Amino acid sequence: NKSITVGLLGLGTVGSGVIEILRDHKERIEHKTGCDVTIKSVLVSDMAKEREIPAETELTDRYEDITRDPEIDVIVEVMGGIDHTLTILLEAIEHGKHIVTANKDLVAQHGEQLFEACQKYNCDLYYEASVAGGIPIIRSIMDGLSSDRITKMMGIVNGTTNYIMTKMAQDGVDFDSVLKEAQDLGFAEADPTADVDGLDAARKMTILSILGFSMPYSLEDVDVKGIRGISSDDITYAEDLGYRIKLIGIAENDANGVSVSVEPTLLPAEHPLSSVNDEFNAVYVYGDAVGETMFYGPGAGKLPTATAVVSDLIAVLKNIRLGTTGTAYVQPQFPKQVRAQSE
Ligand code: NAP
Ligand code: HSE
Repeated sequence: NKSITVGLLGLGTVGSGVIEILRDHKERIEHKTGCDVTIKSVLVSDMAKEREIPAETELTDRYEDITRDPEIDVIVEVMGGIDHTLTILLEAIEHGKHIVTANKDLVAQHGEQLFEACQKYNCDLYYEASVAGGIPIIRSIMDGLSSDRITKMMGIVNGTTNYIMTKMAQDGVDFDSVLKEAQDLGFAEADPTADVDGLDAARKMTILSILGFSMPYSLEDVDVKGIRGISSDDITYAEDLGYRIKLIGIAENDANGVSVSVEPTLLPAEHPLSSVNDEFNAVYVYGDAVGETMFYGPGAGKLPTATAVVSDLIAVLKNIRLGTTGTAYVQPQFPKQVRAQSE
């Protein structure tokens, strides 16, 4: 087998899941890829925290220990953050490291720049976990549906807000205590206002739009409303009238261009998205030829997200074995055309 050395950036919810999956599925992964994987170093911010890491793994709080280590082949970034993290990843790419990331904040805003750097230095770039956690939605759009013209994507792409609204509806719990629960379960972002105010969903819809419509699209062009204004009473009244309130992302592409929005939406109780509960996500993708497809699964949390991250790592290992590079990004084929929100 070929020995591959990984540097892990971040050891929180997702990072600890990555370590767990690499440990529990070690033989399966070796068999599938012909590679033995060692996590050599892990970047954290608090060196004093107690951690469970493999015996051969060392902790560091200096990113250069990882980006400049000539033994490290692949960087798995699960620490979050935008500008500082971009600097770290660009430096890693300049040192020839392949990149796997779960960071939608970064991909939504700087995906193009990361992609161009990876092209320049012959590095891989994969980011399946950045949208809808354990659902392989990026692969489905990039590979499974690549022959079709996608016209619309719509669904629930934030686990935290779906968890909050499910619990408010089912158990009548108040917003603040259920948000705390979602944080304790590892679903929420480090700054949960990104979840609550719809920004996290907007970032994911931006990524899906760029990939699905093969067109540049900016986060700033998304029309975003979060769930902060929704009370338990609103949820109860909606239920009494036969409706559910869900935070729905919609991205459409027609002759006038692309429009993307995220907002709380009343859905009839019998609508399939109404029964997507807790941290689960579901995305409809409509294509000219395929018609309607639906993808459903856990949208946040340690092991579902880490599954997507390690599957990306396996893609990198396979590329290394084949002597090729790959990416889940493509240069947008069409010029940017943003549809005015009133149209
Ligand atoms: P988390 O639990 O907060 O863990 C973040 C980790 O990164 C921690 O170990 C932290 O160090 C480390 N870290 C953060 N900033 C750092 C810095 N500047 N320097 C060094 N280390 C730093 O976060 P998470 O939930 O695992 O999420 C990680 C990433 O995955 C984020 O981009 C998130 O959006 C994405 N994601 C998360 C989920 C999910 O369900 N949680 C799902 C999909 C994608 P310490 O341990 O020392 O604090
Ligand atoms: N905070 C995100 C969510 C994590 O709740 O959906 C998964 O991207």
